[in-house]
Amino acid sequence: MLLIKLSHTPMESTAPNRFLLIFFFFCLDTKLALSAASLFPKEALPTKSGYLPVNPSSDSTIFYLFYEAQKPISTLSKTPILIWLQGGPGCSSMIGNFYELGPWRVNFNKKPDEPLALEPNPGSWNRKFGLIFIDNPIGTGFSVASKPEEIPRNQTRVAEHLFTALKAFIKSDSSFKSRPIYITGESYAGKYVPAIGYYILKKNAELPSWDRINLAGVAIGNGLTDPEIQVSTHAANVYFSGLVNERQRGELEMLQSEAVALTKAGNWSAATDARNRVLQKLENMTGLATLYDFSKKEAYKDEMVEELLQNDDVKKVLGVKGSVVYEICSDLVGEILHEDVMKSAKYMVEWLVKESKVLLYQGHFDLRDGVVSTEAWVKTLNWEGIENFLNAERKVWKVNGDELSGYVQKWGSLTNVVVLGAGHLVPTDQALNSQAMIEDWVLDSGLFQKGNYSTTFMNQI
Ligand SMILES: *[C@@H]1O[C@H](CO)[C@@H](O)[C@H](O)[C@H]1NC(C)=O
Ligand SMILES: *[C@@H]1O[C@H](CO)[C@@H](O)[C@H](O)[C@H]1NC(C)=O
Ligand SMILES: *[C@@H]1O[C@H](CO)[C@@H](O)[C@H](O)[C@H]1NC(C)=O
Ligand SMILES: *[C@@H]1O[C@H](CO)[C@@H](O)[C@H](O)[C@H]1NC(C)=O
Repeated sequence: MLLIKLSHTPMESTAPNRFLLIFFFFCLDTKLALSAASLFPKEALPTKSGYLPVNPSSDSTIFYLFYEAQKPISTLSKTPILIWLQGGPGCSSMIGNFYELGPWRVNFNKKPDEPLALEPNPGSWNRKFGLIFIDNPIGTGFSVASKPEEIPRNQTRVAEHLFTALKAFIKSDSSFKSRPIYITGESYAGKYVPAIGYYILKKNAELPSWDRINLAGVAIGNGLTDPEIQVSTHAANVYFSGLVNERQRGELEMLQSEAVALTKAGNWSAATDARNRVLQKLENMTGLATLYDFSKKEAYKDEMVEELLQNDDVKKVLGVKGSVVYEICSDLVGEILHEDVMKSAKYMVEWLVKESKVLLYQGHFDLRDGVVSTEAWVKTLNWEGIENFLNAERKVWKVNGDELSGYVQKWGSLTNVVVLGAGHLVPTDQALNSQAMIEDWVLDSGLFQKGNYSTTFMNQI
């Protein structure tokens, strides 16, 4: 089971559309061009898109879309660039782009009889910063694995590929070199983000300063980072939320301890299966439409992104290689990374929090990788600032006047944000608040400012 493979509603038949397209093609082919253009308005086009190498001796390539900042607050050569990585394992960052935080999103609040369309996102993460969406690892989305054997089986290989791709991206424009780079992502990217961040720090230490990647921070939303600790939190979380009774809690705890025991034994494939059984049982017991958001009556509609990107004209304007059939999540990549699922990426976060800055944020309604699940592993961080962080005030966060947005806790280089009114896909559910969060965190402003926190406990170091 994939972390972000959402339960899909059955696909509607596309036959009538195809008939209409053929009909128009015969009548007046400019009409066809117009219909493609209206599905993908010119203003929605990325600044740049294409393919990046992962290894000099391989034809495998990584697909990316880059959107320049809409209203940069400094010269472009100093304007930060955010990189977005989707989870899965095996899900495409085009979900992030066209369903969550990109400048144009599918109209997911449309009525059933309205056509699919793109609409501007007022909460886009590229208002002040450049933004790149990367289909990672190869075999995912529009990225190409020339052979299945080249698809990474672990986070080290994921990081090696991303590093080569990023170097090529930065080289593609002389102004990119000096721009601060922030790696962001969600869900299973709770492992990719630390993996590439850690790899960059290690590589930078070996490289001359002119050849380094200007890493400025990493951000993880609703992440799976330290699975053994995280899998142990579901039973208590749903019990104290009133979603299961005590007997069911006991049943879940039994399943959780199987997942923990298999993880401790290094029986990786069986450990992943055991975690999936916990989540399946949780789904079954609660009867919820989706574990990604216990407040929702239906699952997220990310399959709309698949519908958009399977359109040949859309693929063409995005510069996609013709033969790639787009799927929002790749089962093959999911299978290949199956043994990686329960392996921890915490040690890499420990390095990043020492050498860089780290943002963790969680949508409050998520039952898979939510608030409790994150706090459980964060408090075990081997970092000299951890006591101060845990003792720091958890501040009430308001983005828009008096309306409550969530909570921010920060000490030193570590910030944790709880986003209220959001599930697993925070930018989908709270677009403007997610934008305020990422901007304030990158720019160290508002509650995310240095020195905006009580220093009462600082002396404990
Ligand atoms: C990671 O996976 C690659 C294949 O994708 C393999 O060649 C390499 O040995 C693995 N490294 C570790 C540390 O397991
Ligand atoms: C891994 O766990 C499974 C399920 O419990 C078990 O059948 C298998 O023998 C274990 N493998 C190893 C190498 O211990
Ligand atoms: C849970 O599983 C049981 C046994 O397989 C099944 O009968 C029941 O319908 C399931 N309930 C839900 C809500 O999926
Ligand atoms: C702290 O955060 C608040 C709320 O965003 C802000 O008004 C204030 O200027 C910030 N800075 C300091 C140093 O308190």
